[in-house]
Amino acid sequence: MKLWVLLTLVLLWEEIQNGLCQQIKRRKEAGENRIKPGNKRVKVRFPKLKEKEAAGKGQSILTQVLDKGRFLRLGDTLTLATKTTMELRCKGTRIEWAYPSNLDTFKDSRLSIKQQDKYSQLILTAPSAADTGEYSCWAILCDGVECEKDMDRVSSTYIYFTDKDELFVPSAIHFEIIYLRPEKPATVPCRVTSPQIKVSLHREVPPEEVPIDGTLFSYNPTKGFIIQQPSPEHKGVFYCKAIGNNTPQISNKYQLLYVEVPSGPPFATIQGSTTVAKGGDNINFTCTVLGEPEQHINFTWTYPGQGQRPVNIQETFRLINRGVGHTTRFSQSVIIIEDTETIDYGKYICRAKNQHGETAVSAKVDSY
Ligand SMILES: *[C@@H]1O[C@H](CO)[C@@H](O)[C@H](O)[C@H]1NC(C)=O
Ligand SMILES: *[C@@H]1O[C@H](CO)[C@@H](O)[C@H](O)[C@H]1NC(C)=O
Repeated sequence: MKLWVLLTLVLLWEEIQNGLCQQIKRRKEAGENRIKPGNKRVKVRFPKLKEKEAAGKGQSILTQVLDKGRFLRLGDTLTLATKTTMELRCKGTRIEWAYPSNLDTFKDSRLSIKQQDKYSQLILTAPSAADTGEYSCWAILCDGVECEKDMDRVSSTYIYFTDKDELFVPSAIHFEIIYLRPEKPATVPCRVTSPQIKVSLHREVPPEEVPIDGTLFSYNPTKGFIIQQPSPEHKGVFYCKAIGNNTPQISNKYQLLYVEVPSGPPFATIQGSTTVAKGGDNINFTCTVLGEPEQHINFTWTYPGQGQRPVNIQETFRLINRGVGHTTRFSQSVIIIEDTETIDYGKYICRAKNQHGETAVSAKVDSY
């Protein structure tokens, strides 16, 4: 392969790793900086609990095709054997599906989805323990060009592909890092391939089993161990142990790290393009905040020429990936003053606000 092809690939990969670079947005709208998919013909959202309940009240549109043309209407969970082809059908003339991400990652040829006249068909050949997970489908409602998920016709089922040699759902990552944050439940994702399997959680050093009380610590076979209120004492290396009919099995290892997140006002910095300017220069000030990925920062500026001259304010944010489960949001606001005049000399104050409070930082520009 030519070197430049390789380089392009590396750069592309880095771009993906660094998350989506957000477009520059004018301040005027003062709206939320949201990630918007470029092509917005179909709005797809992952089914929430509420939707599941709604579907539960009506009839599930999701069925499994059994032999000899018999059908099984699917409920919350289903346990199947591995290696036997699975066929699911979802009623409707326009259907979309969601399935475990490992089937997507490798563009798995075992999976096929076909829309027929009155239903959509999902066929998975040679399923394995790794395919254990949630399978859901929903009808798409179209009105002219805009299409939307029909909230009243969403069905989902968690399917276990039971394999006595794989008590845990295999994962591509063998040593996972899990970040614990105060006020946010954390999950040690050792899922199992059958709801019957008994699972315990263990600390490596000192070697001990973690007592599971069902409230602070609980186990959900579709998710793993859930730590309701993580604290610094929960950090360390952990693994899960499963007991089936035969010998016990050990899961991957999980490194739990405790991340102190100050739930306080944002930490902001300001940087001016210059400290001295002469009439006619273009100057700018950049206000930067590093914080939690979902935390929106509201920037406001106070400046000498306020109300007397037009300025250009540009806001951007970027999500920076710093390892599994750890993302930093990099928010920036830039105020640009073109063709400076006497009224523009003085103090520029940036106020950065989140739900916990506000931080003000300032910088100055003087005349030559
Ligand atoms: C801010 O000013 C610096 C120095 O003149 C310039 O390099 C930079 O591109 C400016 N930034 C913006 C967003 O205009
Ligand atoms: C940002 O703050 C301003 C001033 O306090 C307020 O008017 C505006 O609604 C806020 N915007 C958002 C998106 O929170």
